[in-house]
Amino acid sequence: MRNSFIAGNWKMHKTPAESKALAAELVKGLSGCRHRLLVAPSFTALEAVASVVKGTNILLGAQNMAAEEEGAHTGETSVLMLKAIGVEAVILGHSERRHVYGETDDMINKKVKLALKHGLEVILCVGETLDEREAGNAETVVKNQTEAGLAGVSEAELAKVTIAYEPVWAIGTGKTATPEDADQIHKVTRAKISSLYSPAAAEKIIIQYGGSVKPDNAAQLMGMENIDGALVGGASLKAELFLPIAEYDK
Ligand code: 13P
Repeated sequence: MRNSFIAGNWKMHKTPAESKALAAELVKGLSGCRHRLLVAPSFTALEAVASVVKGTNILLGAQNMAAEEEGAHTGETSVLMLKAIGVEAVILGHSERRHVYGETDDMINKKVKLALKHGLEVILCVGETLDEREAGNAETVVKNQTEAGLAGVSEAELAKVTIAYEPVWAIGTGKTATPEDADQIHKVTRAKISSLYSPAAAEKIIIQYGGSVKPDNAAQLMGMENIDGALVGGASLKAELFLPIAEYDK
């Protein structure tokens, strides 16, 4: 039985002080939560939030990182810098990085391998655009992004990888994939992991759903066989919304 993994991606919201306050509310409200939990504040708030979540059941994640360890990369943030302030995981390949900032599968794969090399957990995001879905290509796009993102990753390293299926058309739009449609993509993604690695690896891997997850649809989504958690955007910015999502089965 896979344990649910609920993560909040705070995107480009909240100052360090605001982030710290939200993290403190979550620590208090979720101390008895049985699911794995993670928050991903913006870079400037990571250190402040680290001081609040350290030693609790909430993991600290970053929203991105550079594909290189160090050097002349103005504006980028290195895995070494993230590790030094207590970051434990990193979200890579988010659709906003792919579609707004032009990240390619190759760049994302480089980042995935670098993060794993340094012992960070990875949440690898995959998902099709509306055009790709309407053209009947959703499954192919997600399978290809999964394979490309994980190229060169060993089965041992895969234990530190979570996949987040986030259909681009469902992010921040209020449109959610139906639980059945989402589960179908999760199922083919799991089958892809089975063919790339092994049935045992496929059985173990956590596949989160992301895209307009809210308190009123969380339980239904998470009730599907292949949906093992959520990557929450908008609703992770308010404790009163994120708490019931994290505790969806209470
Ligand atoms: P929303 O929950 O705001 O749709 O965002 C989903 C997301 O992109 C999480 O990474």
